[in-house]
Formats: sequence, structure tokens, C-alpha cells
Amino acid sequence: KLNGLDFAVADLSLAEAGRTQIRLAEHEMPGLMSVRREFAESKPLKGARVAGSLHMTVQTAVLIETLVELGAEVRWVSCNIFSTQDEAAAAVVVGQGTVDRPQGSSVFAWKGESLEDYWWCTDQLFQFSGGKGPTMLLDDGGDATLLVHKGVEFEGAGGVPQPEDDDPEDYQLLLRTIATSMSQDPQRFTNMAKDIRGVSEETTNGVKRLYQLAREDALLFPAINVNDSVTKSKFDNKYGIRHSLPDGINRATDTMLGGKTAVVCGYGDVGKGSAEALRGQGARVLVTEIDPICALQAAMDGLEVVALERVLASADVFITTTGNFNIIMADHMAQMKHNAVVCNVGHFDNEIDMAGLARIPGIVKNEIKPQVHEWTFPDGHAVLVLSEGRLMNLGNATGHPSFVMSNSFTNQTLAQIELFTKAVNYGKDVYMLPKHLDEKVARLHLDALGVELTRLTKEQAEYIGVDVDGPYKLDHYRY
Ligand code: NAI
Repeated sequence: KLNGLDFAVADLSLAEAGRTQIRLAEHEMPGLMSVRREFAESKPLKGARVAGSLHMTVQTAVLIETLVELGAEVRWVSCNIFSTQDEAAAAVVVGQGTVDRPQGSSVFAWKGESLEDYWWCTDQLFQFSGGKGPTMLLDDGGDATLLVHKGVEFEGAGGVPQPEDDDPEDYQLLLRTIATSMSQDPQRFTNMAKDIRGVSEETTNGVKRLYQLAREDALLFPAINVNDSVTKSKFDNKYGIRHSLPDGINRATDTMLGGKTAVVCGYGDVGKGSAEALRGQGARVLVTEIDPICALQAAMDGLEVVALERVLASADVFITTTGNFNIIMADHMAQMKHNAVVCNVGHFDNEIDMAGLARIPGIVKNEIKPQVHEWTFPDGHAVLVLSEGRLMNLGNATGHPSFVMSNSFTNQTLAQIELFTKAVNYGKDVYMLPKHLDEKVARLHLDALGVELTRLTKEQAEYIGVDVDGPYKLDHYRY
């Protein structure tokens, strides 16, 4: 704690380097900067205590400082142990102050946290000054939301959670975090949840968890699905990954992609962006899919759709993008070419069977550099696994570029304003932002690209049955 501000980051002296990058990012984030200007006077988040769990990058720093400019008090953690940019975290803590007298926001995040650190940080998220909890959650992948929901569940049942040895390590640590909390205050999460007006969720996996909770009637507060705003998933997931996937592979391995065979598992939004990037590099791209529609899309895009098992021995690079688990198993990696690159850009690390890989008798793990490991099998062949199977575009590179994240984070900011100021309009369910706001987010990014938008005439608008000022499509339109 320094100058009344609690935080845990790698090195505050990196703040100046972070600030320079934030300044450049602001120029590339016209949506967020325009929202700052629009709400400069009204400060719609005044009084909000926002607990954010989302990759602590330079772009996220611009989001955090936007929320603060709109009146919120903010605490932040990263939603992944490798994704923090330490200079960005330091700059957010220092804010307008100095390294000795920081005046920014409380951040608990550093690159290379252990899983224990991760859950400790996530718990810090809820400890606002004066013993208060958050009034808003902003989540990416749903871990902060999960902690609150599981906490309330165990507190309601009255039994302190007991992790089992065969529970995944992550889940054991979550339960231990709740057990510690219950030993100090048996109703902490229950009381906290009452003050939370809502959560806005960033990504596909987190949104899936929210719909599951809503179906089970177990959602404790309203949620806005930011991921499925068109200006989020059709931009960040696709064009963002098109930028950051090859960036991660290059920084990690410097392997030539042109001429190589790359397998993309999953042809959703992230898979489409991945395939396009790899094709752009001259790689031969193969796709695996379980959904006939996405498989047909891949085929129509000129890609070969294959069963993973058939191409294990011939492909050079494997990328999982499914949001599902057990996609590339240890047994698969045992059959790959020497030095095949194996990596994941789906939200959780269970797409690649890292635990199974570590259990192979006689396997040797050698660190080439942080977040790049050579796993050598007893037969002498090796695979290169990036970021220990976690999101490699954030672990090996710096995630998506500012311009595309401006779209995502403008949606996030509008969702926070909506839930905080109009909580009474929302029940305990999952909602989307209305289409006119989606179109607004896109509109805010046109000038920067020199786009000349055609304006409908009144007659044309009447002919196609829309308003001249939009929305221009019905809700079911798929873009
Ligand atoms: P999506 O639902 O559009 O695509 C996933 C695709 O994987 C679907 O088409 C599905 O049919 C397919 N799939 C499921 N199981 C499969 C299996 N066993 N084999 C082959 N294909 C399978 O989801 P989206 O938006 O593309 O997101 C994918 C993942 O990426 C999620 O975990 C999401 O949270 C994450 N994400 C990561 C980002 C990053 O920066 N790395 C950015 C945005 C999302």
C-alpha cells in the first residue's frame, strides 16, 4: 500500500514506459476516447465500484482510465496468468501521480503469476476501501463472476468447501479461496452479491457460463453479453486474432509460416481469423470442426476440413480455437513431427492436454525462453508448446491491437453505464446491447479509417423498411 492505494504489480518504475504506450494507444482507440468526451460532464459511473478481471494490457489501461473518467472507482486483475503487460499495470497504478505517490487505480496483476497468485489477486478485486465490495463486475472468461457465485453457493449451504485431490488444480484453488473467505466472514459473498448491479462479460467462454447460470435460474444479478455485440465478436475475435496469432508465433518461435501446414481446430470467429492470418503468411491451412455449418464455411473458403488424427504426423503448426476442452491430447502430440508447434488461443488452457503431456513417462520439459517449452518424448522427437497451453497471443505477444480493442471496450463501457444507471430495467438474465449502440460503436471508428459512409435517402429507407439513422438490420441478421 502506497499513498493509500493498495496494489500488487511487478515494478512501479515501469510506469513511464507504460504511459508512453498508453498515450499511443489512446490515439488508436477513437471509440473509447469519444465516450470519454460524451460523458465528461454527466459522469454516469459516479459512485460505481467496478471490479474488472480482464487481461491487464495497454489497451485495458485505456479502458480502466475511461471508467475512472466516467466517475468509477476501479480495482483490476488480469484474467490470465501470462497476459499482463507489466508496464501497463504500473502506469495504471501510478496514474496522474508519481512512483512514490501513486494516484491511479488498484491493480493486482503481473506477468507470470502462479495459479495461487491468480486466485489471491482475484479475491483482492472485491476489497474496496472502507470494507466495501464492488457494485459492478467487468469480466473476461467469467472467473470473477464464478468466484462470487460459488462463494454464495457454499455460504448458502453452510459447509466450507473441501477440494478433492482429483479436482482440477484451478478449481481446488478457487475452493480454497472461498474456504479462507468463509473462515473470516461466513456471509461475505452473499452480502457482496446484493450490492452488485450487474456484470458485463467480454468473451465467448464467459458468456457460455452466464447462459448456463441463467438457464439454471442461478444468476445472482443481470449480465450483458458484450461478446456477441457484432462490433465485438465479428471484429476482436476475428480481426484481432488475425493480427495477434502470427505475432505470438513469430515472437515465440520465429518459425517460417509460409509453405508450412497449419491446423486450426475450430472455425468459429477466432478460427476464421486464425486461418486467414496463416493463409496470408503462405501457410497451407487445414481446419477441424464439429459443426457442419462451420465446416462447410471452411470448405467454401477453400480450406481442407480434416480429422485431426489424419494430419498429426504431417502438419507443422497446431492451433486450438474451440472454447472446448480435450482438443489436442498427449497421445496426439506423441504422434507429431519433430518440433511441431502446438498452441492455443481459446480462453482456457484445457484445449491442450498439458496435464497428460506432463504425465508421459520419460518426457523432458526444457524452457527455450519464458512461455516457450520444448517437450521431448522418450523416442527423441519434441513438440514446442507455447504459453503452457494458455492463450498464446497474449502470453507470447501482447494480444490484439488497440484499434480493434477500442470496439470491444467501447461496448464494455456502454454496457457498464447501462447496467449501473438502469439496473431496475434488468432482471437476473443475460442481455445484449441494443443494435443502435452496436452501430454507434462501429460509427465511432469510421473517421479514423477515412471511411465514407453512404447515407440512405428517405425514400430508400422507407423502401427497405428502416429508419434513415438506423438500426439498419433486424436482430437476427448475421453479418
Ligand atoms: P465460436 O463458438 O465462434 O467458435 C468455436 C468453434 O469451435 C465452433 O465453430 C465450434 O463448432 C468449434 N468446436 C467446438 N468443439 C470442437 C472440436 N472438438 N473440434 C473442432 N472444433 C470444435 O467461438 P469464438 O468466438 O471463435 O471463440 C473461441 C475461443 O476463443 C473461446 O474460448 C473464446 O473465449 C476465445 N477467444 C480468445 C481470444 C483471444 O484473444 N485469444 C479472443 C476472443 C475469443
